[in-house]
Amino acid sequence: MSAEPLLVGEDLHRSFGPTPALAGASVSVRAGEVLAVMGPSGSGKSTLLHCLAGIVTPDRGRVRYRGTDLTTLPDAGRSALRRREFGFVFQFGQLVPELTCQENVALPLRLERVPRREAERRATEWLERLEVTDVAGKRPGEISGGQGQRVAVARALVTGPRVIFADEPTGALDSLNGERVMRLLAGAARETGAAVVLVTHEARVAAYSDREVVVRDGRARSLEQVA
Ligand SMILES: Nc1ncnc2c1ncn2[C@@H]1O[C@H](COP(=O)(O)OP(=O)(O)O)[C@@H](O)[C@H]1O
Ligand SMILES: [Mg+2]
Repeated sequence: MSAEPLLVGEDLHRSFGPTPALAGASVSVRAGEVLAVMGPSGSGKSTLLHCLAGIVTPDRGRVRYRGTDLTTLPDAGRSALRRREFGFVFQFGQLVPELTCQENVALPLRLERVPRREAERRATEWLERLEVTDVAGKRPGEISGGQGQRVAVARALVTGPRVIFADEPTGALDSLNGERVMRLLAGAARETGAAVVLVTHEARVAAYSDREVVVRDGRARSLEQVA
C-alpha cells in the first residue's frame, strides 16, 4: 500500500436545489485499499461517490485523482479517464439485457477497441474468477440476482481499473449471495491492487473493507471520530 492517496475529495459541497447533499465532506483512498462509506439513507453517500468518480461536479471543493483535479478537467477528459481508470458496480447490475453475460463483460473492452477474440478471452477469464462461467452464454434476464452482480463485478474489473466504485452492490441480494459478491469483489481488488470505494449501510458488507467512514448530513467522518 503506497503512502500517497490515490484519490482525494476535499471539502466537498453539493446541493440539489435547496437540499444540501454534501456539506463539507473530505475523504481519501489509497491504492489497494477497500474503503467503506457508511451512513443512513439520504446522508449523501451516493452523491459523495458520484463526486469522487467525476460523475457529479461539486459546487465547492476539489477531487484529486493521481494529482489531477477532476473538478476542473474538461468533460471529454473526465469521461475518458472514467472509462480507462475507473470501474462501476451499482445496486442492480445494469447489464445490457440484449447481450449475453460474456458479451456484457467484453463490452467495455470492445468500446476501447480491443479486438473481439482478445476481449472474449479476457471476459471468459473474469467470469471464471467471479465463479459465473456457467452463465456466460445466458442473457441477464435468465440468471439470478447474485449471478448478475458477479457478472457486473467482472465487467467492472475487466479493463483493469485503478479504482472501483460500488454503490450498495449487495443491496438487492440476500445475505449469502451478498457475502459471496463481497468476498469476490474484495479479493479481486486486492489481487489487482485496485482501490475500492464501497457505499453500503450494512455492517456485514463493510466488514470486507480496510477502513470505514461514516457520512452524516453530508459530512464524512472516520469511524474513530464518530465514536
Ligand atoms: N439528483 C438529485 N436531485 C435532487 N436531489 C438529490 C439528487 N441526488 C441526491 N439528492 C438528495 O440529496 C440527499 C443525499 O442523497 P444521496 O447522496 O443519494 O444519499 P444516500 O446515497 O446516502 O442515500 C438526499 O436528500 C437526496 O434526496
Ligand atoms: Mg445512495
